[in-house]
Amino acid sequence: MKVLIIGGNGQIGYELRALLKAANIPHYAPGRDQLDLTVPRQIEEVIAEYRPTIVVNTAGHRNPARAETEPSRCFALNRDAPAALAKVCDQYKSVLIHISSWRVFDGMKQEVYTIKDIPNPSGVLGGSFWQGEQQIREHCSRHVILRLSWVISPQGRNRLTSILNSLTHGEPILASANSRGRPTPADDVARVILAIMRQIDCDAQVWGTYHYNAAETVDEESLAEVILAEASQYRDFPINATELFPDSDNNGKTVNACLDTTHLRNTFGIHSKSWRSGVARLVRDIYVTAKDR
Ligand SMILES: NC(=O)c1ccc[n+]([C@@H]2O[C@H](COP(=O)([O-])OP(=O)(O)OC[C@H]3O[C@@H](n4cnc5c(N)ncnc54)[C@H](OP(=O)(O)O)[C@@H]3O)[C@@H](O)[C@H]2O)c1
Repeated sequence: MKVLIIGGNGQIGYELRALLKAANIPHYAPGRDQLDLTVPRQIEEVIAEYRPTIVVNTAGHRNPARAETEPSRCFALNRDAPAALAKVCDQYKSVLIHISSWRVFDGMKQEVYTIKDIPNPSGVLGGSFWQGEQQIREHCSRHVILRLSWVISPQGRNRLTSILNSLTHGEPILASANSRGRPTPADDVARVILAIMRQIDCDAQVWGTYHYNAAETVDEESLAEVILAEASQYRDFPINATELFPDSDNNGKTVNACLDTTHLRNTFGIHSKSWRSGVARLVRDIYVTAKDR
C-alpha cells in the first residue's frame, strides 16, 4: 500500500498522516504549493510520478456562507477537482477515497440519513459536494466516498475550537438548539479511513458510498454545554463567557446532519464511538496532554 493524501494539512489529513506514519505505511502528502487540486496538470504530474495505490482526497471547500458568495471557487474545488482527480486515478489504477459531507442532504429529515436517501442539497456547498460525488462515480470505478457529519479536532476551525476560543476571549457563545449533528473527532475519521484502506489492500471489492459519524445525536446548544463543563475542569473562564446565545442561523428550522452508519459497519465491521467521550478526550488533550508535552 502506497498512499497519496491531498489536503494533508487539514484536520482529517493531519490525523491520517500521523496514523500512517505510526503504522509505517508509505505515504506522501504534498502541500497546496506542490499540488493544487484545482490544477489538473499538477494532479497528473504527482500521480504519474508517485504512483500511489490509494489516493485519499481530504481537500475541500467547507464554509457554507462563503460558498454562497464564491460559488465558482466552491464548485472548482468540490466538483471539478474531484472530477479531474477521478479520471487520473482511473487512468493510473489508483483507488480513490474521497471525503464528502452530510450536506448532500437538505437536513430537513427528522431521522438519520441512510445511504438509500436520495440527496437533495440546499445551497451552493451541498450542491458542490453532491455534483463532486457524481463525477467520481462516473469517472473512477474503484472509489470509496465517505460522507461525514460534524468534524471536531484540537486544531483548525470547528465547533469545538470555536466554542473554546469564545470562552477564552470572553465572547458570547453562539449555538443553535435547531442544529443537530454527531461531532466526530478527526482522528476517529482517520482511524476509519485506515481501516477501509487495509480492506482495499486485501483486495476487498468495497466500492461505493458510506456514512460515518460518532454515535448518538446532540444539538449545538447541548454540545456547547458539554464542552463548557469539560473545559471548566481545567480552566476558570470569565462568568460572562459561559453564557449561551441562541444562533438563529436556521430560521427556526431544525437542521439534521446525522448519518446512519449501518452500511459501513456491515461492510467493514467499523463501529462508531460516542461523541461525548470524544469531546472529553479532545478537551483534555487541549488543556492537559498538549501542555505537558
Ligand atoms: N470539518 C467538517 O465538519 C466536515 C464535515 C463534513 C465533511 N467535511 C469534508 O471533509 C474534508 C476534510 O475536512 P477537514 O475538516 O479536514 O478540512 P480542512 O481542515 O479545511 O482541510 C482541508 C485541506 O484542504 C486543503 N486544500 C484546500 N484547497 C486546496 C487546493 N486547491 N489544493 C490542495 N489542497 C487544498 C487545505 O490546504 P491549506 O492547509 O493550504 O488550506 C487543507 O489542508 C473536506 O472536504 C470537508 O468539506 C468536513
